[in-house]
Amino acid sequence: WRLVSLVSLLALLLGGCGKDFQSTLIPQGEVAKMQYDLLLLSTAIMVLVVLVVTAIFIYVVVKFRQKKGQENYIPKQVEGNHKLEIIWTVIPILLLLVLAVPTVTYTFKLADVKPAQKQKLDKDTIVIDVSARLYWWEFAYKNEKIVTSQDMVIPTGKKVYLNLKGADIKHAFWVPSLAGKIDTNPDNVNMMWLKADNPGTYNGFCTELCGPSHALMQFKVKAVSPEEYEAWTASMNKLDGKQETASAQAEEGKEIFQKSCIGCHAVDANDARPAAARIAPNLANFGDRELVAGIVENNEENVKQWLKDPEGMKPGNLMTGKYGNLTDEQVDALTAYLLGLKAEK
Ligand code: CUA
Repeated sequence: WRLVSLVSLLALLLGGCGKDFQSTLIPQGEVAKMQYDLLLLSTAIMVLVVLVVTAIFIYVVVKFRQKKGQENYIPKQVEGNHKLEIIWTVIPILLLLVLAVPTVTYTFKLADVKPAQKQKLDKDTIVIDVSARLYWWEFAYKNEKIVTSQDMVIPTGKKVYLNLKGADIKHAFWVPSLAGKIDTNPDNVNMMWLKADNPGTYNGFCTELCGPSHALMQFKVKAVSPEEYEAWTASMNKLDGKQETASAQAEEGKEIFQKSCIGCHAVDANDARPAAARIAPNLANFGDRELVAGIVENNEENVKQWLKDPEGMKPGNLMTGKYGNLTDEQVDALTAYLLGLKAEK
């Protein structure tokens, strides 16, 4: 248990490095805690075994080494020792049992997604279809009928069920402080659940090498209080893309958007088209996002940069080359429009 305290101390130290540091070693929810417990338990058992075996090994090597004047000495030859054999069979069995009982128990708990599999979902069950794409993430809330991307908003203290799929190729979903990893495959749906204990923004990653921008395929999980979550879903449901813009420039941006961007990007948070038709990130609440393109802070300068040179910011993304003929005025107008797309507070 010295090791356990050492790891905990390390975790605390790293945790002190700043609130942005997020790790499997600092679990922030039930699933992550279970995974962390198993990690500690199996590491402790392995270290214990290594220490004991190494100690016996050193003892034997030293004690039974060839001594001076014994060059031709042959020690007593032993064949079979029931006591020893029983000991070294029973100890591993016990160790494996100690490891197996919590592992099996937790595996069943983690695999329990029954509430999400009901034909008709209960009203307050939160089920999100997570769709991984080159190189972004879509989150479609089944009960709430909301489609959003890049930022997954969830309430604290509640189980959130995820149906995960890769829309193009294989990716993998991981939020180190909360849960994962799990593959998102194009040909089957993987299911899991997660829960966040505390409000906060948790970093999520793609953890399956999927192309030049794999490392940039990030997302955020925003955990808010249940009340704030209710308010968020209500305000998202008002975003149909027809709401008024704040300025003449934003209005101009809206017109450009309706001509050039709407073919791929929806600004209706209730986008009812089938998943396959939603080929680009839904931008209904783009102004609320933490990041532009999942990589840099969401501000005016970065949005403009993204519109001018998507390939430079995120190599291999599908927006590249779609439109490179925007004038500076058009970029400014689009930026004003996009940053104004927000869910009401
Ligand atoms: Cu998607 Cu790596």
